[in-house]
Amino acid sequence: MSKPQILLARAIFPEVIERLSAHFDVETNQADDIWSKQIFIERLKEKVGVLTTGGERIDAEVLRACPKVRICANMAVGYNNFDLEAMTTAGVLGTNAPDVLTETTADFGFALLMATARRVTESEHFLRAGQWTKWSYDLFAGAEVHGSTLGIIGMGRIGQGIARRGAHGFGMNVIYHNRSRLTPQAEADCKAKYVSKEELLRTADHVVLVVPYSPASHHTIGAAELALMKPSACLINIARGGIVDDKALAEALKNKRIAAAGLDVFEGEPVVTPELLKVPNVVLTPHIASATIPTRRAMAMLAADNLIAFLSGQAALTPLNPFAVR
Ligand code: GLV
Repeated sequence: MSKPQILLARAIFPEVIERLSAHFDVETNQADDIWSKQIFIERLKEKVGVLTTGGERIDAEVLRACPKVRICANMAVGYNNFDLEAMTTAGVLGTNAPDVLTETTADFGFALLMATARRVTESEHFLRAGQWTKWSYDLFAGAEVHGSTLGIIGMGRIGQGIARRGAHGFGMNVIYHNRSRLTPQAEADCKAKYVSKEELLRTADHVVLVVPYSPASHHTIGAAELALMKPSACLINIARGGIVDDKALAEALKNKRIAAAGLDVFEGEPVVTPELLKVPNVVLTPHIASATIPTRRAMAMLAADNLIAFLSGQAALTPLNPFAVR
């Protein structure tokens, strides 16, 4: 009997391909080509499932052109590349990859916060350029991290991981804003206090963004919000491009409206707003918050296990729209 056909949209760990090949006839993209939408549709047409990485958009056009598809398994916790409503209407299941990346991503959020506050990349560029000729009392003086006020917007699993690091590791005063308040127990675990978005922006020394992207969270931070922040504040975005108005941020950094920013995600990535590349007080990384090999492998395996479970008639492990199942 022939096996069901699936597509892996991007290059992936060989052991994940091996695992999937025991169950499916697998078309891979180990050359890691970036396919146009048309090519993606052509490859997907005869498949019942696809492993996506967050860069492949699944919308009504794709679903119409590929009616055999039953599941799209995202190797990412965020799933704003899925039009979940269109998928539900088409009876197509979406899955994401939560939990396995929480601590690694929180580590990176904290790394970016430290690098930004203590001007790590800016000072390294200075040194590499041969500009370090003498010590001086204020050379690359940065912002205090320990004991400062950490404001987290988006207090899901990753936000709570960052809060715990800040509160327990660095003695920070943690405040947060979220669509809903945490339970008293979760607030106590993170030593975090719920405040309005405005109070958070006005009082935090470091603002970390960890909200999922949706039309409602588009430009959560724009010129008006930047104007509320302390001139000494640092802004960290490890959420998604589009949560911050990158042009407004570049302007605020240029004018020293805020002290610095650390960005792992960008509007229109992998293209970066050119104005951001021109300002020195920003640390820029290419969407790598979950990038350790064990974590990326766990994310890929979870996506693979979702495909295997669902296409063999069992419940998917991390479904996004279970009611869609046909
Ligand atoms: C990465 O950005 C993810 O959503 O997993």
